[in-house]
Amino acid sequence: MAKQEIKQNKGLVIVIASIAATGGLLFGFDTGVISGAIPFLQDYFELTDSQVENITALGLIGAVVGALVTGTLTDYLGRRKVILASAFVFATGAVWTGLAPTVPQLMISRFYLGLAIGVSSFAVPLYISEISPTKIRGTLVSMFQLLITVGILAAYLSDRALADNSNPESWRPMLWVGVFPALILFVGMFFLPETPRWLMSKGKEDESRRILKKIEFPEFIDKSISDMKEQIALEAMQAGWREIFKPWLRNALIIAMGIMFFQQFVGINTVIYYSPKIFLAAGFVGNEAAIAASVIVGVVNVLFTIVSLFIIDRLGRRKLYFIGVSGIAVALISMGLGFMIEGASKWFLVGSMLVYIAFFAISLGPLGWLIITEVFPTRVRGLGSSIGSLSNWGFNTLVVWTFFKMASAIGNAKDVVVPEGSDLSTECPTCVGSVFWIFAAVALIGLVWGYFYIPETKNVSLEEIEAHWRDGKKPRDLKAQ
Ligand code: BGC
Repeated sequence: MAKQEIKQNKGLVIVIASIAATGGLLFGFDTGVISGAIPFLQDYFELTDSQVENITALGLIGAVVGALVTGTLTDYLGRRKVILASAFVFATGAVWTGLAPTVPQLMISRFYLGLAIGVSSFAVPLYISEISPTKIRGTLVSMFQLLITVGILAAYLSDRALADNSNPESWRPMLWVGVFPALILFVGMFFLPETPRWLMSKGKEDESRRILKKIEFPEFIDKSISDMKEQIALEAMQAGWREIFKPWLRNALIIAMGIMFFQQFVGINTVIYYSPKIFLAAGFVGNEAAIAASVIVGVVNVLFTIVSLFIIDRLGRRKLYFIGVSGIAVALISMGLGFMIEGASKWFLVGSMLVYIAFFAISLGPLGWLIITEVFPTRVRGLGSSIGSLSNWGFNTLVVWTFFKMASAIGNAKDVVVPEGSDLSTECPTCVGSVFWIFAAVALIGLVWGYFYIPETKNVSLEEIEAHWRDGKKPRDLKAQ
C-alpha cells in the first residue's frame, strides 16, 4: 500500500511539473521562433538590419523587465497566479505579434511577449522546485530545461514548415503557433495547486499540508512541515531586498549570477540564434542546407537534455558541471580550429558544434536554472531566482549583441575589407573562429570559478542549504549529510 501511495504521489508530481514546464516550452519557442521569421519580416516591412536588431532585442529587454518586476510578485501573489498571468500574456502576445500591422506595433508586441518569457523563466522553475519531493527535485527542474530545448526545436521545425517564399506574410502564422502551448499552460495551471512552501509562508498550514500529502513521500510530510516552520520563523524578521545583499547570502548571489554568466558567455545563443549563418560561413551552400543543419543542432540539444534528466540527481551538480564545461571548452577550441584551418571539412565544424551542444545540454543548460532555485532561502527565493534569470537575460542580450561586433572588431584589426552585399562570416571565417576561442577562454575560467563556487546540492534539502550559508560555510563544502 505504502509503495503504491509513493507511486501515485510521484505520478501526480510529474503531471504537475509537466504542465508547469510548458512554460519552458513557451520560453524556448518564443525565443527561437524569431530567427526563422526575421527574413520574412525584413522583406515585408523593408526593415533595415538595425530595425531587425531592435525587434529581436526588444523581446530580450522585455524578458529582462519581466524577470525584474515580477521577482517580488511571486513572493506576494504566489507562484501559481503569476504563472497564470504569464500564460495569458504568452497567448495574447502571440496573437498580437502575428497581427502587427506596423513596425512600432511589432516592436511593442515583441516587448510584451518578452515580459512573459522573463516571468516564466523564473516563476516556472521556482514553482517546480517547491512542489517537488527533495529526492527527485533535480530531475523535475531539469524538465524545464528539456522543454526549453523542445520549444527551440519546435520553433525551428515550425518555421521551416511555414516558410513559404511565395507568401511574404509567412511570419504571421509562425508567430501565431505560440498560442497553442500558451493555452495548454493556462488551462493546466488553472487546475494546479499553489506550492506548499509559499502557502506556509503565508500562514496557511492546513492548505499546505493538504497539498503536501498529495506530492511528498508520506514519511517526509511531518519533517517537511516542521522544517518549513522553523525556516519561516527564522525569516520572520527579515526583509527581501535588504536581506539578499547581506553577507551571509553573498555566496548564494555570486553562485546564481555566476552560473548564468558562464551559461551565456560560453556563447550558447550565438549557436542557437545564428547557427544557419555559422553553417553558411563554414561552407554550406544555400539557406535550406544551413537550416537543415541547424535542425540537427536542435535535435542533439533535446536528446542530451534528456540524458541530463537521468544523471543530474545521480552524478550530482559538481561532477556534471566539470564534465560539461571541460567538454564545452574543448569543443569551442575545435570549432575555432574548424574556421582557422583552411580547407578543414565543414563536417569537422558541424561535429564540433554538435559536441558543444551535447556538453552544454547535460551541464550548463539545466544546471543554471536548477541552481538558481536551490541556493536561496524561501523568503527571498522568488527574488533571488529572479536576479538569476535577470542575469541570464542581461548576459544573453550582451553576448548576442556583441558576437558579430567582436568578429568584426577582429576583422578590423586584421584590415579585412568586407565588400558590400557580403558578410563578415564568409569574408573572414577566422574572425568568427577567434570569437569561439574567446568563448573557450571563458569556459576555462568557468572551470576555476566552478571549483570554488559550484555547490553540491544533490540530495540536500533546501533547508539544509540555507543552514549551510547561515553557518558561513564555503559553497564547495556543501554535501548531503
Ligand atoms: C539557456 C538559453 C539557451 C538554451 C539552449 C537555456 O538554458 O538559458 O539561453 O537558449 O538553454 O538550450
